[in-house]
Amino acid sequence: MNIHTYEKFWLLASMALIVGFILTITYGSVGLGIAMVDDSEPTVDPENLNDHPDFGDPGVEKAGENEYDVYIRAIQFAFIPYQIEVPAQSTVTFHLTSGDVIHSFSVVGTNANTMIIPGEIATVTVETEEPGEYGIVCSEYCGSGHHDMEALLTVVPQDEFELEGDE
Ligand code: CUA
Repeated sequence: MNIHTYEKFWLLASMALIVGFILTITYGSVGLGIAMVDDSEPTVDPENLNDHPDFGDPGVEKAGENEYDVYIRAIQFAFIPYQIEVPAQSTVTFHLTSGDVIHSFSVVGTNANTMIIPGEIATVTVETEEPGEYGIVCSEYCGSGHHDMEALLTVVPQDEFELEGDE
């Protein structure tokens, strides 16, 4: 059978395209380290967050030298706590959970953004840079007060940072 040269070319080109698409999708889903929330994440009882050792009294905790954990509860229609203060030039891990419906945690102007699912703990780690103020918004429609759901993240100079309840 004789296949015309052009036809051969287009056959090969279309096959290369298909292989290319598959490689792109594979890279996008496993190569970038993007993780989906799944059953293997630590879980919490959304009904009893008050009794949880970390989410019962949410806020900033020191995790190590220049490392901090921030526990935040999302509810209709607020983040608890509303004001979050962390030091500059530090590694900050946000631990997020919801007491009712699905919310999200988006630090405006950065790529820190995650869904907050009741019963699951989502974590986002950021490296803080210069002092500044960042708005935190819920970008997952969660009910009539969704547009009012916000919080304030303040990055303060290291020598001005003080942990609440710390001497
Ligand atoms: Cu919470 Cu939208």
